[in-house]
Amino acid sequence: MKRWNTSKIRAAKGDHKIACLTAYDYALAKLADNAGIHLILVGDSLGMTTLGYPTTLPVTMTDMLHHTAAVVRGTTEALVVADMPFLSYQISIEEAIRNAGRFLQEAGADAVKIEGGAIRKECVRALTSNGIPVLGHIGLLPQSINNIGGFKVQGKTREAVELLLEDARQLTEAGVFGIVLECVPPDVAALVTASVPVPVIGIGSGSACDGQILVMNDLLGLSHNPPAKFVKQYASLAPRIEDAFCAYIKDVEIGDYPAPEHFYASTQLKSSSELN
Ligand code: KIV
Repeated sequence: MKRWNTSKIRAAKGDHKIACLTAYDYALAKLADNAGIHLILVGDSLGMTTLGYPTTLPVTMTDMLHHTAAVVRGTTEALVVADMPFLSYQISIEEAIRNAGRFLQEAGADAVKIEGGAIRKECVRALTSNGIPVLGHIGLLPQSINNIGGFKVQGKTREAVELLLEDARQLTEAGVFGIVLECVPPDVAALVTASVPVPVIGIGSGSACDGQILVMNDLLGLSHNPPAKFVKQYASLAPRIEDAFCAYIKDVEIGDYPAPEHFYASTQLKSSSELN
């Protein structure tokens, strides 16, 4: 099958649901791609899942370019979207274009994601009109965690819902090909989804959205923290991986590994001149 592109993602709205996942490395991106995932986001959740930071804020352009390139190498079909890290697009439109362009030019991404609604309208327009497809992101914005005061459900008042609808409208006008909607009540997500012609990809926002995204480590049960309420764990890999490590350590300690089946065939010792 041909690689998913942004037109195909847009056309999926109202036709079929879009399944998206985050990924951060070659091996797991390849498995998700083989499974037929439609869109892979190299999220700045990289900070927590892979780099051991408490938030997304310390993640840099260098980190994101490195991991995006690895994910791109692991995919042939999924659309790969690179998350623009904190301060890579907020300072000026020029910096936003330069940094976003690096994801396409150096890492091979198909598109970028930036956080924020109406406030990002000019930035999104500058990127899209320069050939850089953009996925918007509204609702809970992890890069604004210090303003919000924690990972809290958004869109809980009439005013907040009006703002979300306006954010979605302005991002659409600016040319996004889709919008991630994070942690809002399901009825609010249904309103936002119905209000725009581009796909709305929900995370922690109920089932009315045009698609869903999950952090891969949460889905696989690889996280060290208890999962959020909205996460469905499709596997519980952390204890299984730890068990495998324990078994290996024990085998090495008691001499059960390596066993004869892991040895290369024994040869009669020859001199190096005979081997040449
Ligand atoms: O960084 C990330 O993983 C994200 C998703 C939660 C949408 O932005």
